[in-house]
Amino acid sequence: MLCRFLLFWILLRCADCFSVTVPSSPVLGVRGATAHLPCAYEPVSGLSDLVITWQREENAQVVHSFYYGRDQLGRQNLDYQNRTKLNHQDIPQGNASLSIARFGLKDAGKYVCIVSNSKGTDRGVVHLVYAAFYSEPKLSIVLNSPDVTVQYEMEAYPRPEVMWQGSGGQNLTGDVEVTSESDGGVFYLKSSYKTQSPVLNVTFTLENPAVHQKLQRHVNISYDGNWSSRTPVVVLSTLCFVLLCTTGLLLWLYCHNKHK
Ligand SMILES: *[C@@H]1O[C@H](CO)[C@@H](O)[C@H](O)[C@H]1NC(C)=O
Ligand SMILES: *[C@@H]1O[C@H](CO)[C@@H](O)[C@H](O)[C@H]1NC(C)=O
Ligand SMILES: *[C@@H]1O[C@H](CO)[C@@H](O)[C@H](O)[C@H]1NC(C)=O
Ligand SMILES: *[C@@H]1O[C@H](CO)[C@@H](O)[C@H](O)[C@H]1NC(C)=O
Ligand SMILES: *[C@@H]1O[C@H](CO)[C@@H](O)[C@H](O)[C@H]1NC(C)=O
Repeated sequence: MLCRFLLFWILLRCADCFSVTVPSSPVLGVRGATAHLPCAYEPVSGLSDLVITWQREENAQVVHSFYYGRDQLGRQNLDYQNRTKLNHQDIPQGNASLSIARFGLKDAGKYVCIVSNSKGTDRGVVHLVYAAFYSEPKLSIVLNSPDVTVQYEMEAYPRPEVMWQGSGGQNLTGDVEVTSESDGGVFYLKSSYKTQSPVLNVTFTLENPAVHQKLQRHVNISYDGNWSSRTPVVVLSTLCFVLLCTTGLLLWLYCHNKHK
């Protein structure tokens, strides 16, 4: 009984004598950028007893280690080589935050920050999620009588939500086509709107909620809906050309014969 009480008392004491603090909500890592994994602990003076280890929770792979007052990267997983950084000036203040450069989809997941010093040992799990900002959408307009197709192409992750709206703000869902393919790290997305109207005034909206990005582009074009009427013009000019040539040839033949 006394033993149990003692154990409970020790656990209780140790629970508040040393703790590691990490964010409870997921942290965002952006494709190609440097991701920051926050982790704080209660410092003691001197680094001699301090051990900081960052590991993947899924497979316990070592991401970064620090002890004897310096980085210890002998057991670091190769995927993280030359990409991780602990800020040594911040460590004595109880900051064990890790940076991971050139963040990619493979880096998304759970990371455990384990810290021990003379006060005790504790761990915290940081959940890192992956996203990619969309690239500037490329616009193309294809005229294929009697259709006009307006298309935007872009990259983003996760798959963004796209919307086409008419001049009155109404949803243009009927003639909208969205295709996308993913290479794992990014979606290549094409979204097009097809119409036969000679006046085109539409708004394209793309939203990537993961990175709080919203983009809007207006396309406002009007064209001569009868551009196909140019075809007879072409036919006529070709006919004229042939006529001229024939006349020339006949004239030449006539002159040639007369000369003989
Ligand atoms: C890390 O950098 C060292 C020295 O610059 C280099 O030899 C090694 O190949 C690099 N490793 C990776 C995975 O890029
Ligand atoms: C911990 O250090 C990182 C840089 O290494 C910094 O961005 C972050 O603000 C620091 N956190 C605190 C709580 O001081
Ligand atoms: C085009 O649409 C915008 C709103 O999307 C509207 O303000 C504008 O008046 C429209 N223009 C024409 C010519 O319809
Ligand atoms: C258009 O559709 C989107 C979802 O596809 C919806 O959020 C929005 O409210 C709709 N807008 C109108 C004007 O119907
Ligand atoms: C669209 O173009 C028409 C004429 O081409 C113009 O009157 C109108 O203001 C434009 N609307 C927008 C939203 O730019």
